[in-house]
Amino acid sequence: ANRETRWRPIYHHTPTYGWMNDPNGMFYKDGVWNLYFQYNPYGSTWENMTWGHSTSTDLVNWTYQGDVIEPDALGTIFSGSSVVDYKNTAGFGEGAIISYYTSAGQSQTQSMAYSTDNGKTFKKYSDNPILTSNLPDFRDPKVLWNDEASHWNLILAAGQQMNIYSSKNLKDWKYESSFGEGYGNHGGVWECPDLLKMGDKWLLICNINPGGPFGGSATQYFVGSFDGHKFTCESKPEVTKWMDYGKDHYATVSFSNAPDGRIVVLPWMSNWQYANQVPTQQYRSANGLPRELSLFTYEGEDYVCVKPSPEVFAAFEQKPTGSLQSAAYLEVTNIKSNASIVLCNDKGEKVAMVYDEKNRTFSMDRTESGLTDFNNDFKAKTTAPTYGTIKKLQIFVDNSSIEAFDADGKMSMTNLVFPNKPYDKILAKGCKVKVYNLKK
Ligand code: FRU
Repeated sequence: ANRETRWRPIYHHTPTYGWMNDPNGMFYKDGVWNLYFQYNPYGSTWENMTWGHSTSTDLVNWTYQGDVIEPDALGTIFSGSSVVDYKNTAGFGEGAIISYYTSAGQSQTQSMAYSTDNGKTFKKYSDNPILTSNLPDFRDPKVLWNDEASHWNLILAAGQQMNIYSSKNLKDWKYESSFGEGYGNHGGVWECPDLLKMGDKWLLICNINPGGPFGGSATQYFVGSFDGHKFTCESKPEVTKWMDYGKDHYATVSFSNAPDGRIVVLPWMSNWQYANQVPTQQYRSANGLPRELSLFTYEGEDYVCVKPSPEVFAAFEQKPTGSLQSAAYLEVTNIKSNASIVLCNDKGEKVAMVYDEKNRTFSMDRTESGLTDFNNDFKAKTTAPTYGTIKKLQIFVDNSSIEAFDADGKMSMTNLVFPNKPYDKILAKGCKVKVYNLKK
């Protein structure tokens, strides 16, 4: 296999051709998951930002549907979100899809587009932009319906803060408040926010670049309360929480209108440190697996519980097989206090994962994983706190990625790898590993 086919993911969303970064405007309606994405249709590095569109009925198999929002006089099309307007509050029709994005031109402003055919085609709103400022970084609007406050909210990234707005008609937005000064990590610009109700609490997702725990971009979050006007963090300002402890989990936001109250998020599986240099050429970047979020409490703090979506497990065979293939799900049980799982090939390339119960950490070392020298920041060993013990690990291997999850949702770690041959051997110590292949 040439490098393109060798590294192209088998069960992760990726463009056939061209560059991709953030997932945008995701929504679910009538059995279809819609995923838009920051896309360069003309080349495999970041440029010409356009919203590409893919759909899926199972969150695993995606079909590219073409490009829906293209650059115009206001600028190129940066990240944003969509809502389903069931009550026709905006006047574009019942069940219209209303999407928000940043027009990146002379300045960054927020624009709106709508679709009356379930997100297949969009018309831009005639009065764009709908929100302006004089800040250099002012982008990534995420819109949500707030049931308690009985209005829409919009949250966007403004420098190193998140601004919150409200609206009754999805077009006229009133500034309410800002969150972030003094809270969490400020090692970079805040980007791609989300605001999600989780039981009695609210989760504010704050992607940040750089400033991540292992350098470059990463996803931090805050847990607190939100009354439709102001977000109040429940933790001390200095507390920093990360959603994923790998190097390749960024721009993570949720699908709006997901069924059964599910909170389903999708990461971009790369890092701004080297995303433009990873050794694929026809295309660049994939999404991480879809994950479901909830909360758990550990030693008095609330954390995000991250689990792969049930659809991901359903994509694999029921019965384990003996051998590791380039696309596999590894179920790790009987975990002892010092367990290790090493994936390797006969070229001496390997990825070592270690669970250290005493120090309550899980780590993944990709320093000898294969091709690593395309960028100095790629070689890395990432380490996560496990917030208690891990009883079962779920590890998803694809052609160029490894995602490890604590089955209880207390730890997730997403890392890219570029082996020159697929890892075909597992060395396991202090644990038992079962290998499942993808269903045909
Ligand atoms: C995050 C980001 C966003 C922006 C987009 C541009 O990865 O920088 O803030 O809207 O990418 O492609």
